[in-house]
Amino acid sequence: MSTSIRTRVAIVGAGPAGLILSHLLAEAGIESVIIDQRSRAEIEQTIRAGILEQGTVDLLTRIDPNTRVHTVGHRHDGIELRFQGEGHRIDFPGLVGRSVWLYPQHEVLKDMLALRLEAGQDLRFGVTASRVEDVDTDHPRVIATDADGAELVIEADFVVGADGSRSAVRPAIAGTSRDGYFREYPFAWFGILCEAPASADELIYSNSENGFALISQRSHEVQRMYFQCDPDADPNSLSEAQIWETLQSRVPGTTLKEGTIFQRDVLRFRSFVARELRRGRAALVGDAAHTVPPTGAKGMNLAIADVVILADALNALLTENDTRLIDGYAEAALRRIWKAQNFSWWMTSMLHSLPEHNEFDQRRQIGELRSLVDSEAGRTYLAEAYTGWPLG
Ligand code: PHB
Repeated sequence: MSTSIRTRVAIVGAGPAGLILSHLLAEAGIESVIIDQRSRAEIEQTIRAGILEQGTVDLLTRIDPNTRVHTVGHRHDGIELRFQGEGHRIDFPGLVGRSVWLYPQHEVLKDMLALRLEAGQDLRFGVTASRVEDVDTDHPRVIATDADGAELVIEADFVVGADGSRSAVRPAIAGTSRDGYFREYPFAWFGILCEAPASADELIYSNSENGFALISQRSHEVQRMYFQCDPDADPNSLSEAQIWETLQSRVPGTTLKEGTIFQRDVLRFRSFVARELRRGRAALVGDAAHTVPPTGAKGMNLAIADVVILADALNALLTENDTRLIDGYAEAALRRIWKAQNFSWWMTSMLHSLPEHNEFDQRRQIGELRSLVDSEAGRTYLAEAYTGWPLG
């Protein structure tokens, strides 16, 4: 059994990038179909990180003036860098006139799914893309398998891979799924979610003698914290007491408020940029195009920045047959992607300890942190990059 449908833009992946793209296309009168291999419940319940840049929040507010970002989310006007037991606040509005919002990705997804479904978006869950064909013609297609195991062919004018780091669209663009620029890191984050009051009002990024820790929040009742660990660490290998002891030893100066740990995970670190972001009538956005380590909190923001550029390019291509913007998509997107790669790599390397670090390296790292916090220019760069460069 095979069913064939036709649309203007076939979007693979109902994450923030795919959903926001469908909205921006609909605003321009361009219809699309979104498929995702996960169920709606799975998409809405997978807990992800959640720092939104000022530009992301401005866009979500334009899309929906009543967005819950402003009621459920929390505006953060700074972060703290801690090293040698001392905290140094980076004051975002004071330095660059912008802020960030703590609003987890799954909340953005709940909002965007509701909004798109209400607008009549053709959005199909449980549909797995296997490959993309004919991207060098005007009629590319996605070959997929639906929830019942039947083949679904989506014929389109353009195909977008918004389907994450294991993208099924990437091979049609890059030749192979792994062709790109890589960096692996010799450490990971041990993350916990716990039921406890917040230990701090803002995020604390701490470089300590015992390694890195990040104190983040989710709500008044739930907190998110991480500490640097071995990439092969087993999340179940530590007792709750050992986890608290490790975290506490890495944020000297703050007494953490402890509570029941109800989720633990190990996040591996990787930097990746695909060699090609577009070929003919297909393009990649978000994690399908690049991965950043979480230290810079750039993942979702970067995906949305790609989509803003791509939506304009598709509008010009599909409504006026103007190819200039789509021909420039990769270059325009890569400009921001490599800035974000650099920022994420820099935050990561400045804050973590490496197995090969000797005492010189440790002291140099403190010198780097001190150069940053002692300099208004340094703090301004951090604030500018963390709150996000202008979109579009
Ligand atoms: C999080 O709250 O999960 C979080 C915050 C900031 C980061 C990474 C993760 O840089």
